[in-house]
Amino acid sequence: APSLPDILSPAFAADPYGAYRIMRESAPLIRHEATNSYIVSRYEDVERVFKDRAGEFTTENYDWQIEPVHGRTILQLSGREHAVRRALVAPAFRGTDLQEKFLPVIERNARELIDTFRHTGEADLVSAFATRFPVLVIADMLGLDRADHERFHGWYTTVIAFLGNLAGDPEVAAAGERTRREFAEYMIPVIRRRRDEPGDDLLSALCAAEVDGVRMSDEDIKAFCSLLLAAGGETTDKAIASVFANLLTHPEQLAAVREDRGLIDRAFAETLRHTPPVHMIMRQTAKEVELSGGTVPAGATVTCLIGSANRDGSRYREPDRFDIFRSDLTGTTAFSAAADHLAFALGRHFCVGALLARAEVETGVNQLLDAMPDLRLADGFTPTEHGVFTRGPRSLPVRFTPVAG
Ligand code: HEM
Repeated sequence: APSLPDILSPAFAADPYGAYRIMRESAPLIRHEATNSYIVSRYEDVERVFKDRAGEFTTENYDWQIEPVHGRTILQLSGREHAVRRALVAPAFRGTDLQEKFLPVIERNARELIDTFRHTGEADLVSAFATRFPVLVIADMLGLDRADHERFHGWYTTVIAFLGNLAGDPEVAAAGERTRREFAEYMIPVIRRRRDEPGDDLLSALCAAEVDGVRMSDEDIKAFCSLLLAAGGETTDKAIASVFANLLTHPEQLAAVREDRGLIDRAFAETLRHTPPVHMIMRQTAKEVELSGGTVPAGATVTCLIGSANRDGSRYREPDRFDIFRSDLTGTTAFSAAADHLAFALGRHFCVGALLARAEVETGVNQLLDAMPDLRLADGFTPTEHGVFTRGPRSLPVRFTPVAG
């Protein structure tokens, strides 16, 4: 039998998809010492954990992962407290707020970034665009001073390094804790000013939001904004980079998308299935639970492998093939239980920012294709991915003929 690399080993990071296949086929439930968790890899199991129809799972285990850098966020909440928090924050990320207030922000930030390199004929789409665009969009949506956007991007870099610090590097850990303090020192006064003088921005909307007489405290809002660095920044960063990596390595599909921009939705959905930004999500069992391959005791952590579930052959035909035209995909992004893939999770914690992410990807892809009619990878370059909990292309050097405009 092929050997199964440990999920924290370099061999796994080099090719998780091969290991995922072995897990789905012959080890669907693994007791893993280093993460002190039970790993599940099949679509049916990951879907069941996320949907949690029987109230078997909680998100309490996020306290040790997320609390140190963000504080107490919506991710750690459960039950009614979570439902109220969802109702407080969700409206800002869909409907007229998204369309009327934030779409112009998304369009402006995409244009400004592309203007920094469109005349050069070459760029790295990861460092020049993907890692900057979603974070700058969030800073701008929040209504932060333009002069502070670079600082905001700097905090983003230290926060995602902190969350990805599997090796426990003490300097990375210390920088994360420093960022938590700096972020609070910066954000709390900004939040207080918005309470006095509301504007048309996301921060003002969060300050004003009220559901059943409940409002968010300054600390709640600060923690939510901090969470957005990772939840709304790193994820969308990797999604945009992966959309381009997939299309640039499948030129006939890129040509189809260029021709019919309505296909961007399919390219986005298929990318989220095939190469999702978030590969692992954890839950805790509230009681003893039966999953494929055995029993998990109460109070244990379950690691759900999204990257594996999304390539389960019992759910998708030819799961390893990137194909925006596949028939087992609808290409729609909705607050729905009937999703094309598990990249946004499902159930109560289903990604609040799914429609925002879609709008960012649609705008970014449209504007980049418009600015670069013959966009292609640099000669001989093959994209490689990095990351284990979150994953995306390391770099994407591209060439194009600069056009005026
Ligand atoms: C939740 C993925 C973009 C905000 C989640 C979860 C996943 C996810 C897997 C579930 C976490 C869990 O259950 O533990 C993604 C991906 C994105 C993306 C793949 C990009 C393609 C965004 C954006 C925002 C955002 C742009 C900005 C608003 C959130 C929040 C939650 C969340 C606040 C927590 C929801 C809750 O706990 O109820 N996301 N996300 N995400 N996401 Fe996203």
